[in-house]
Amino acid sequence: MPNIIHSGYKYLTPLSKLLYLLHMDIFLLLFMFVTMPSPTLGSSQIPAMFVFGDSLVDPGNNNQLKTLAKANYPPNGIDFPLGATGRFCNGATIADHLGNLLGLDLIPAFNNPSTIGSNIMQGVNFASSSAGILNDTGNHIGQNFPLFQQVQNFGENILPELKSPTLNSDTTFKDYLAESLFFSNIGNNDFLNRHLLPPNYPLNRDIPPEFYDMLVNEYSILLEKLYSYGARKFLVTGLAPLGCLPIVIALYSKDTNQCYEHHNEVSRKFSAMINIMVQHLNQDLPGASLLYWDIYTATRQIIDNPSQYGREANVKFAKV
Ligand SMILES: *[C@@H]1O[C@H](CO)[C@@H](O)[C@H](O)[C@H]1NC(C)=O
Repeated sequence: MPNIIHSGYKYLTPLSKLLYLLHMDIFLLLFMFVTMPSPTLGSSQIPAMFVFGDSLVDPGNNNQLKTLAKANYPPNGIDFPLGATGRFCNGATIADHLGNLLGLDLIPAFNNPSTIGSNIMQGVNFASSSAGILNDTGNHIGQNFPLFQQVQNFGENILPELKSPTLNSDTTFKDYLAESLFFSNIGNNDFLNRHLLPPNYPLNRDIPPEFYDMLVNEYSILLEKLYSYGARKFLVTGLAPLGCLPIVIALYSKDTNQCYEHHNEVSRKFSAMINIMVQHLNQDLPGASLLYWDIYTATRQIIDNPSQYGREANVKFAKV
């Protein structure tokens, strides 16, 4: 069951097409960073990218954990040069594509023994499948790195290691962090694993408004923690269309060609709150620049107009 949930994200690819669709946003982003010369690297737009999130951007951090939420076996990775790495998709994730567009090397997984020394200088990816903003989200599937732990892994493990080797002057290090991109894509599992899949749904149909508030509050605290470590440029996504996940369609949709709109409303509602949080943080954190990325609308556009993106229309979703 849990693997099915996460394999369901494959459906959100091919992400190159998603990024094509999002080219406006990407150009805006590039524009933002093009104006800031990089102190350490010649060819890339930014010195580094640090990634926080769930299975949408996990590059294999769960491979060594005791969990069912792993993807380091085929057919995952069939379109990826390195094969099955633990990415929950056929090819590259949106984090990989984004890094590539920004001129960075492939960002390594935090939980990989070779992610040390010079390998971390262009960034590290801390994302963990089944994880959420809350510490215990996804625990029923096994171990993961919740956002709190991801932020701590950055601050306590990677940050000291980044500081020593090549960046020995404080100003340079400060600039390196301030010009790096902190990309966060999380929150999907806090809803899916706690409220939107069996055994919780449809039994507890209504998600209390306090849950949304608590979640966004916790998210904000953890982004502020990154700011306290020196992060200044953030890209924060909203939620994916959870009502369009194959497992959700298979379980709840009357018509297997249609997304289940109840769950999509949850995505839209929480995404709007993330957007507001981002604007508040822009005001509250001096020198910080946060950008909200509306992945719901972009993904929905592909799902609703598959033929424009090289996909067959009216794909029947298998009952799984
Ligand atoms: C998450 O766990 C950490 C450490 O175990 C703890 O300090 C933190 O307060 C927890 N966060 C929440 C929201 O419970």
